[in-house]
Amino acid sequence: MSFEYISYEKKEDGIGILSINRPKVLNALNWDTLRELGKFFEEVLPGENLKALIVTGAGDKAFVAGADIAQMNSMSAREFKEYVDYAHKVYQLLEDDPCPSIAAINGYALGGGCELALACDIRIASEKSKMGFPEVKLGIFPGWGGTQRITRVLGLGKTKELVFTGEMIDAEEALRIGLVEKIVPHDDVMTEALALAGSIAKRGPLAVRLSKTAINAGSEMDLQKALLLEKTLVSLCFDSADRVEGMQSFLEKREPSFTGE
Ligand code: CAA
Repeated sequence: MSFEYISYEKKEDGIGILSINRPKVLNALNWDTLRELGKFFEEVLPGENLKALIVTGAGDKAFVAGADIAQMNSMSAREFKEYVDYAHKVYQLLEDDPCPSIAAINGYALGGGCELALACDIRIASEKSKMGFPEVKLGIFPGWGGTQRITRVLGLGKTKELVFTGEMIDAEEALRIGLVEKIVPHDDVMTEALALAGSIAKRGPLAVRLSKTAINAGSEMDLQKALLLEKTLVSLCFDSADRVEGMQSFLEKREPSFTGE
């Protein structure tokens, strides 16, 4: 499948790199780019059997500077609703895919870009990154999951401060409040993301995938249901070739060779 506004590379070690590729407009997400992302998450990613997916932006200035303001400006209210609905679907596909995802934030991650990073499992940011939700400056508010996903990460007060003011924060502040997990030198973002993906890729793939489901789905349930889900999934995991290999390799003092089965 060929794409114009995104690029995708699968490396030999089972790590995928997905890049949003509209650097002239700081990788703003117009309809065509969103559609390509939707196709990728729906039709490509599930068949790739990746051990980890890195999501980043092309160029060295931006991850994604948000929804495409020029395109939004000429939308009717009905068209805007379709755009929002579709973006929700795309981000949900990414969040729900069992493949672990890492946002390699290499500059501006604003509005829909910050929301994209939040739909990833783990966020690494360049020291030059700027993040935030400038939507209220445009007379709208974060509508691609931002009011909900960010609240689950930052809590109500910090979310409201960021959303109501529309102010950008730097990487240090993003790390301090838990919006990103790690800050790295600007030129090292991809190297560091690959190192993190490599460390995930060495582990039992089935265990990593099922743990993502337990964490994500469990966080939306009450504790007793979430614990039941955890027990069920870890027991399913136990009944796998990866579990046999993992425990056997430990006892034989060697590196495991997992198959993901
Ligand atoms: N949509 C469309 N074009 C964008 C864009 C966006 N979100 N962000 C940047 N661009 C374009 C600029 O218009 C400019 O294009 P031209 O060269 O044709 O003029 C180009 O990218 C470079 O941008 P700047 O010249 O503005 O670069 P800068 O370094 O001076 O500023 C910036 C960088 C602070 C990120 C600034 O571009 C900016 O404020 N961008 C808008 C960010 C924003 O408001 N994002 C939220 C969008 S709304 C949203 O995402 C909605 C949602 O949740 C549903």
